[in-house]
Amino acid sequence: MRHFIFVTRAVPAPTLELLQAELPGCQVVVNQQDRNLSRDEILAAARGASGLICTLADPVDRALLQGLSPALRVVATYAVGTNNIDLEAARELNIRVANTPGVLTDATAEIAVGLMLACARRMVEGDAMTRAGRFHGWAPLLHLGRGVYGKTVGILGAGRIGKRVAASMHHGFGCPVLYASRSLHADWESELGARQVPLDDLLRQSDFVSIHCPLTPETRHLLNAQRLALLKPTAVLVNTGRGPVVDEAALVAALRAGRLLAAGFDVYEREPALADGLKDLPNAVLLPHIGSATVETRDEMGRMCAQAVADVLNSREPRHPVA
Ligand code: DGY
Repeated sequence: MRHFIFVTRAVPAPTLELLQAELPGCQVVVNQQDRNLSRDEILAAARGASGLICTLADPVDRALLQGLSPALRVVATYAVGTNNIDLEAARELNIRVANTPGVLTDATAEIAVGLMLACARRMVEGDAMTRAGRFHGWAPLLHLGRGVYGKTVGILGAGRIGKRVAASMHHGFGCPVLYASRSLHADWESELGARQVPLDDLLRQSDFVSIHCPLTPETRHLLNAQRLALLKPTAVLVNTGRGPVVDEAALVAALRAGRLLAAGFDVYEREPALADGLKDLPNAVLLPHIGSATVETRDEMGRMCAQAVADVLNSREPRHPVA
């Protein structure tokens, strides 16, 4: 049988090579536009597809899955997060769903740590000042930031990426680690000396807070205005998870009022749109959702997507099923 696989964005070559190797003769159509497609556009382009490789920006909701059923047998998402996919609908429609856990842990942790350093030491502001010709020579009071060594790091969400960030900060900068999570993680406590604390205590006590929990109905706006008000005025908040975990308008207001030192964003509540006023804040560092954006990681994520599609279409169990 000649399978048709639709890919919603251009992907690294290893993705397509692996599809051809595992499903010889399959027809692979890749969206060639340099933009994300709407649900209706994906529906139209992927009609008849047995496999779909999507990204975290695609609305893989019930309507899309129903529209592509019964031909569609597998969705492989180019991400570890699956909040954009209706997993319940997929199960009901017998569509397997797989993601790409593990391979983006290091890359995303690098960006989280980088944002913490950039925010605390005001690197982006310093770069802008220097380029603008406003660096007139060394001075004791020039462009002071906050130190990182020995400061307390609070990790929200105790998964793989959170643990890698915690380890980097603990081993690299001697930071004590607090974490907020539904369950106790004995490995965090034995390997990192980390302490599990309630979220509000974590926000009150941490100098750096890094968000790594998945986006679910329970975590949407988990950091609302009331919780943001618990942060120290010298705290740095970094989000490399999912934007809607933070009330972005409330965070803009808190940053503007100096109720925390700075915030580093890799993700946004209404991505790619930014909350009003965010881009004008000097104490915010803004990245375009590049946590996993290294050549090595994106190649491997692509291979994992292709393998998952091939496994299901070759009647094998996918290695990382989420539905
Ligand atoms: C993910 O995989 O969920 C990341 O956000 C992609 O970089």
